[in-house]
Formats: sequence, C-alpha cells, structure tokens
Amino acid sequence: MVRVCFLLLAVLLGGVACESKSGSGASVPSLSGPAIERNTHPEVIKAGAQLFQAHCAQCHGEMAEGDPQWRKPGVDGRYPAPPLNGSGHAWHHPTSWLQEIIRNGSQPQGNMPAWQEVLSDEEIDAVVAWFQSQWPDQVYAAWYEMQNR
Ligand code: HEC
Repeated sequence: MVRVCFLLLAVLLGGVACESKSGSGASVPSLSGPAIERNTHPEVIKAGAQLFQAHCAQCHGEMAEGDPQWRKPGVDGRYPAPPLNGSGHAWHHPTSWLQEIIRNGSQPQGNMPAWQEVLSDEEIDAVVAWFQSQWPDQVYAAWYEMQNR
C-alpha cells in the first residue's frame, strides 16, 4: 500500500516591517484649504538676508542652521542659539512673538541679545521674512495654520 501524502506548508517567519513615510518631497501649499502666499518679496528677502549675515549669523549660523549643540545648555546653563531655518522650534511661534524676542532678547535668563536699539521694526520684519523664506513649505504651512487658528 502506497500512501501518498501531499503536504503543503506555508510558513511565514517573522514580520516584514513595512514603513511608509507619508507626504515626502512634494511641495504642500497648504495643509487644508487654499494655497498660502509666502512672503517672497525679493527686496525684503534680500535686505533680511544681509541684516541676518551682519548681525545674527555668528550665533545662528550662516544659513540659520543654529548652533550644533542648541538642544543642550552650555557651561553657563544657557541654551546656545537655536536654528531659525525651520528645523528648530521658531516656527511654533507667531510672528509677533518672534519680533518680540528679536527686539528684547532673552537676557538675563538666556543669551539672545536685544536688537531694538540696533534694528528698526522694518528691519526686524525683513530678517524674519528672510529666515521664514528658509522654511520648507510644510513647516511654513503648519506655522501658518497655527497662526490663523
Ligand atoms: C550672541 C549670539 C546671538 C546673536 C548675535 C543673535 N542671537 Fe538669536 N538667539 C541666541 C540665543 C542664545 C537664543 C536662545 C535664547 C534662549 O534660549 O533664551 C536665541 C534665540 C533667538 C530666537 C528664538 C528662537 C526660538 O526658536 O525660540 C530668535 C527668533 C532669534 N534668536 C533671532 C535672532 C536674530 C534675528 C538675530 C539677529 C538680528 C539674532 N537672533 C542674533 C543668540 C544670538
């Protein structure tokens, strides 16, 4: 007697982790609703870039990338200059807050100098417009929505 046994065995060993990152690359004009107008006024951006290089870059970096150690307090217990290019948390704040910290600085608790004696309100606006122009579209859109909530 011949016994024929067909055994079909499917074994799945372990799981295949399939991570998909959502929303990469493409420019996102707005997270919801109509497209957002970014401030791209060339003269304002150019003036802001020059002011930034003259007054801010020595601490915040030429492209506003921040001090590499910005997340850790320095030996004086104060935080180094954070990025302003969209990779830090500057975009969590409304424009009015950004203007205030630039005007008044964060001393004595922090090491950000006050600029109100040096820069006019218009110049501060231009600097903010420049570093905001460095923010990726998605960061800008998230910031915009927060401001208009
Ligand atoms: C002497 C170094 C130094 C210079 C120069 C400087 N900053 Fe700062 N800035 C700092 C430090 C340090 C902080 C963090 C302050 C804190 O944590 O209290 C900071 C914080 C900021 C913040 C808040 C960012 C956030 O995410 O909280 C803004 C905006 C900013 N600076 C803009 C400017 C601009 C614009 C200029 C030029 C006009 C400038 N800074 C020049 C050191 C500097």
